Amino acid sequence: MKHVVLGSVATIALMGAAQAQQSVVVGHTLSPTSHYAVGAQAFIATLEEVSGGAFTGTEAPAGQLGGERDMIEGLQIGSLDVVITSTGPLGNFVPEVLALDLPFLFRDYDHARTVLDSDIGQELLDRMRDSDIVGLAWSENGFRHVTNSQRPVTRPEDMAGLKLRTMENRVHMAAFEGMGAAPTPMAFPEVFGALQQGVVDGQENPITVITASRFWEVQRYVTLTGHVYSPAVVLGSPFLIDGLSEEEQGWFLEAARASAAATRAEVDRLEAEGVALLRDNGMEVITEIDRAPFQAAAAEAAWPVYTDTFGTELLERIIAVE
Ligand code: PAF
Repeated sequence: MKHVVLGSVATIALMGAAQAQQSVVVGHTLSPTSHYAVGAQAFIATLEEVSGGAFTGTEAPAGQLGGERDMIEGLQIGSLDVVITSTGPLGNFVPEVLALDLPFLFRDYDHARTVLDSDIGQELLDRMRDSDIVGLAWSENGFRHVTNSQRPVTRPEDMAGLKLRTMENRVHMAAFEGMGAAPTPMAFPEVFGALQQGVVDGQENPITVITASRFWEVQRYVTLTGHVYSPAVVLGSPFLIDGLSEEEQGWFLEAARASAAATRAEVDRLEAEGVALLRDNGMEVITEIDRAPFQAAAAEAAWPVYTDTFGTELLERIIAVE
């Protein structure tokens, strides 16, 4: 029997066992009841099923294995197996992926999912190989909205001077500078404490994350800016994946695709119920805003961060997808 140690690809030969069995750890930063947890559990259940029990899995939620940037580094050096992460820090490793983080690029969930499931999505997954990361499947975090503890935000001007936690992502930071806020990049496991202690006034994340993280305990206002679609992605370590047979690699792909489908279904469920849940927990939710001034300010500041290096070809392809 082969056994992969938690979070690593070290293999211990256990003598005398009839059947090889390998265990993988699936890491993510959100709570064990979040949409990422649903995705991790679907990955594990599918992998166990299609492999006939040759592989087993364990979920490591809530940033147990570190923030998203740490976990991506763990995949590169082979200390982690499989990670579900937003694209937030991924552009620091695979710069072309920054295209997906541009504010006001995707029109709606259907547009984003169609693009990510198309050749465009596959090309970006393939590109990750150059950075020693195996892109298995595009999953989902959701459209991001702004929360804060200070005041209702209905216009970009209302964000003037707000210390707003962003992901470690230069496109997002430029967007919030453009909208007048003071962006403060921070790994997610530190965010709740930073909001609680007033180190930052606000943050931005999808409804899925605001609810899973109980941000109503530390934030009063939510504005449904929907300023950017936040993809998630199921990633593997090349140390793990390259050691597998072709058939085994197929099982991992199937598990990753099942994970993405389950996560998207959970995003749909939480999007439908989320606003009521936020209000029930005392948040003031601003649903109706004029997005045009947010779009103008964010796009003008953030798009050149990508286009100055990579041009507009990929963006034009994305926008053209129906
Ligand atoms: O804000 C972030 O860092 C991400 O959206 C999160 C919550 C870790 C999910 O990928």
